[in-house]
Amino acid sequence: MMAQSDSGKPDEGARESKVDTGRRWVNLVLGTGIVATIASFIYPAVRYVIPPPVSESSNLSVVAAKVGELKNNAAKVFRFGSEPAILIRTADGNYRAFTAVCTHLGCTVQYRADLHEVWCPCHNGMYDLQGRNVSGPPPRPLAQYQVHIQGEDIVVVRNA
Ligand code: FES
Repeated sequence: MMAQSDSGKPDEGARESKVDTGRRWVNLVLGTGIVATIASFIYPAVRYVIPPPVSESSNLSVVAAKVGELKNNAAKVFRFGSEPAILIRTADGNYRAFTAVCTHLGCTVQYRADLHEVWCPCHNGMYDLQGRNVSGPPPRPLAQYQVHIQGEDIVVVRNA
């Protein structure tokens, strides 16, 4: 019901208050639309930059290679969960697997068949075939994984 002044006409103040309320609603609706539009642009970018968390428990075992894929004194880098790992077949035919993330500053290590060692090219770090840091700046050994041969698969397992 509209407020009326003493003269019987609708009150000016009440009319302005109604107009203000209407403006507030329009501003609110427009503001919400703008925020939603901005969010629709930002959300995909944020999802791209921050990948979803990887379930580490589902990455405890991986088929790193097939039997016969690696010659003696050779290696391959493979993905183990969210990180690189390295499978090495030693000169006498045994398998070793380690994280391929250098313990110095996180570069990816590689196998040096000429030296029979694991080498980090970033700062000339060196690890032996037990994963021990033997020269250069790496402060700790590489984490070692278990290797199992299951049929045709070479399976690498990381203890939880
Ligand atoms: S990151 Fe590997 S030696 Fe520096």
